[in-house]
Amino acid sequence: MSAAPVVTGGAGFIGSGLVRALLEAGAPRVVVIDNLSSGKRENLEEVAGRVDLQVADLRDAAGLPGLIPEGAVVYHLAAIPSVPRSIADPAPSHEVNINGTFNLLMAARARGVRRVVYAASSSAYGDTEVLPKEEGMRPAPLSPYAAQKLMGEYYCSVFSSCFGLETVALRFFNVFGPRQDPGSPYSGVLSVFMKCVLTGQAPTIHGDGEQSRDFTYVQDVAELCMKAGQAAGVAGRVFNAGNGNRYTLNETWRMLCRIHGVEIEPQYGASRPGDVRHSQADVTAAVRDLGHAPRFSFEEGLRRTLAWYAAAGFPE
Ligand code: UD1
Repeated sequence: MSAAPVVTGGAGFIGSGLVRALLEAGAPRVVVIDNLSSGKRENLEEVAGRVDLQVADLRDAAGLPGLIPEGAVVYHLAAIPSVPRSIADPAPSHEVNINGTFNLLMAARARGVRRVVYAASSSAYGDTEVLPKEEGMRPAPLSPYAAQKLMGEYYCSVFSSCFGLETVALRFFNVFGPRQDPGSPYSGVLSVFMKCVLTGQAPTIHGDGEQSRDFTYVQDVAELCMKAGQAAGVAGRVFNAGNGNRYTLNETWRMLCRIHGVEIEPQYGASRPGDVRHSQADVTAAVRDLGHAPRFSFEEGLRRTLAWYAAAGFPE
């Protein structure tokens, strides 16, 4: 019997989506390593009986190998996200995103894991002259967060070339969907928009709202992670994990208002330091080499996410 897969950050919004996808795809059990700093037990509530939740911190290097089954596929999603948070206070995200990733790779190597799939970030590109962004472009991080996530990619690549540990890095492009927490000043923009549209409030858009993002539905990302865990001949590589489209924040807010049948004018505030202007993935390599096949259009993803927040009793 093959070892149970491991998901670091598996109690988080994207991680718990991946845990559910792994269980639905037939994994009898999944090991979750999460320090519950932003992850929540509730995110795994309905699958708790099939999840081994290890409350542990990636900064505790010594404790990690014992949590990873030999020969497992490890999905490394644990991180302290957010561009503005990394600018306000760079040390904690440095420690988790770089040192924690290093510790995880060391533990994975010690346990002879089959592969590490790493959640890298589209922020690594910075502002490119050309869209869509493809993996051959030179990275140009604009924030500590972007630099940290890029360092994780480099570590994955050298653990593959120097130590023979198979790794695949996926550059996530603005993932959204159910369970994304709107409750922090650093929450992803779509969770904030969802909260605003359901409570009849105007969102604050940073800048002119003409910046654009390749918003990617969480289930599509979870499926791509699983494909990256299995695909042949991809060790050491980096792939975009996006939808391939881009929408401005102004368009996105209007779309959400239309879906919910309300009309609310947004407010505009100062632009955010470290903000990327436009983001759009070229998904050619992921489609060709990993079998990436995003199933959810942006509008469909918005509808599903809005329905989830509404059914979850939002606002609380
Ligand atoms: C970045 C990465 C993304 C990564 C995420 C992790 C890019 C292009 N994307 O997301 O891949 O997963 O970090 O944190 O680098 N905004 C508002 N009002 C708000 C909140 C945000 O206008 O209330 C704006 C931001 O200024 C930004 C956009 O919405 O222009 C998206 O912000 P956010 O959701 O925080 O994600 P990114 O920083 O784009």
